[in-house]
Amino acid sequence: MSEGEQGFVRLVFRELPIEEMHESAEAFYELMDGRRTTRHFSDRAVPRELIEAAVRTASTAPSGAHLQPWTFVAISDQALKSKIREAAEDEERRFYEDRIPDAWKEVLDPLGTDHVKEHITEAPWVVVLFRHSQRERPSGEMAPTYYSQESCGIAAGLFVAAIHNMGLVTLTHTPSPMGFLRDILGRPEHEHAMLLLPVGFPAEDAMVPDIQRKAVEDVLVWRE
Ligand SMILES: Cc1cc2nc3c(=O)[nH]c(=O)nc-3n(C[C@H](O)[C@H](O)[C@H](O)COP(=O)(O)O)c2cc1C
Repeated sequence: MSEGEQGFVRLVFRELPIEEMHESAEAFYELMDGRRTTRHFSDRAVPRELIEAAVRTASTAPSGAHLQPWTFVAISDQALKSKIREAAEDEERRFYEDRIPDAWKEVLDPLGTDHVKEHITEAPWVVVLFRHSQRERPSGEMAPTYYSQESCGIAAGLFVAAIHNMGLVTLTHTPSPMGFLRDILGRPEHEHAMLLLPVGFPAEDAMVPDIQRKAVEDVLVWRE
């Protein structure tokens, strides 16, 4: 590929000295290892610019055929949050009371979750990530997207990392099922709610489950 070829620009790449690579890798690991899912939020305000920065970061994610098949809806309107909480609790009540399979209950019990979702109304922001199963051509005609689940999963990971990096907390909440979010938020048919992410400061007395992460030996297999 030659310089100046139409449609291409030179890769911007800054090589770090090897020492700095190690330091940077360890520092980022330490930062991310301190992230915890928080279910108790303060109602303290968070500037909308911080939410926008997190979405800008999420939107740098790689995506299948660069379709960026996501929409983030950022909600601070209290009446809308109450409506979402009510609908989420309705679904979750049915889930916890009737639909929850035993094997799922077994792994949820230690986390102490239930159908009460006060984080939706307590956190200053609720961000809902919608995955696009189709894209709209400029003509208005619909066409497929590719690897939208994987792409949105990566975007969500970057969002969560950005929120942690800026000193806020979030929760990757998946009300089951969550079709109601499309209706309440007026999104089109080809957009599917994937995650509901309250964002804010933790409550003063926020508690988290005492859990351990797998050791790297348990999640990494070498073939050298
Ligand atoms: C895809 C996904 C769905 C999740 N759904 C819920 C949920 O609906 N409610 C909840 O309280 N936590 C939910 N969690 C949070 C997990 O329970 C949490 O990440 C896990 O217990 C590990 O804790 P940590 O994030 O503090 O490391 C979800 C996490 C992921 C990645």
